[in-house]
Amino acid sequence: MRKIRKAVFPVAGLGTRFLPATKANPKEMLPVVDKPLIQYAAEEAVAAGMDVLVFITGRNKRSIPDHFDKAYELESELERRNKHALLEIARNVLPSHVTCVYIRQSEALGLGHAVLCAKPVIETGEPFAVILADDLIDGGRESCMEQMVRVHAETGCGLIGVEEVPREEVSAYGIIEGTRRNDRLWDIRGLVEKPPVEHAPSNMGIVGRYILDYAVFEHLERAEAGSGGEIQLTDAMAAQIVAGQPMCAYEFEGRRYDCGSKLGYLEANVEYGLKHPELADAFRDYLRGLAGSL
Ligand code: UTP
Repeated sequence: MRKIRKAVFPVAGLGTRFLPATKANPKEMLPVVDKPLIQYAAEEAVAAGMDVLVFITGRNKRSIPDHFDKAYELESELERRNKHALLEIARNVLPSHVTCVYIRQSEALGLGHAVLCAKPVIETGEPFAVILADDLIDGGRESCMEQMVRVHAETGCGLIGVEEVPREEVSAYGIIEGTRRNDRLWDIRGLVEKPPVEHAPSNMGIVGRYILDYAVFEHLERAEAGSGGEIQLTDAMAAQIVAGQPMCAYEFEGRRYDCGSKLGYLEANVEYGLKHPELADAFRDYLRGLAGSL
């Protein structure tokens, strides 16, 4: 089984649900406590063994490369002030063996189109990961992508991360139709993007974690704009399955925060704050006091 070395991060969406915060900054740079969403995603990929990070950027692209680059002025200033702990944080955003590649998606034509922009850096036959940083997943002992890489090595199957979603929310998700193979794995028969609740084939919703095969590019190239006028990754994966290239859905272990929505983003900040080594105690006391006054 070929090792998965590359992770693609589509970060070129408009992030309209977070305006005005996303007017001049990508939503993936929003911090949860003290780290931007994109850094959690990059750390998840590196923990899963990936060493080439491919960012599909759009307008307002500068802050993401700046975040992962060396910051000479900041580092020399922290050194001059003897702020060694902070210097380590600024220096170690990514380990030195990791390479970052930036590709521009000139128009926000949809997630499928963003993934297609990665084609020049993926080799024929090479499996690769896609991580949507606005789905922040706390996998506990094993991150979501580590779980998926392990399952991919066991099954050899292209994988889509899924979770059970409330029936009334299926129309906000890509939904799978399939047969359960075991506790966490499904064989997929079909996929549908944002179905009306009465036509949804299940309530297993697609989340922002994928292990895709190079073959998906062929279907993305043929794809026409689907739901919402965008080129949908779900439609290309569905075409791939129809063409006889099977994919599985993996129900990951852990808790997902939908940080593309304001409520999910606030929940993530509260729960990561409660686990933060410097803040946990003081923040818990604060929340207890606040809850008492509500
Ligand atoms: P969303 O569907 O969440 O869209 O994109 P969005 O534009 O980011 O946010 P809203 O809905 O307007 O608030 C899912 C993921 O796909 C990326 C986004 O950056 C996000 O990670 N994306 C989406 C692109 O990279 N390019 C696109 O053309 C569309």
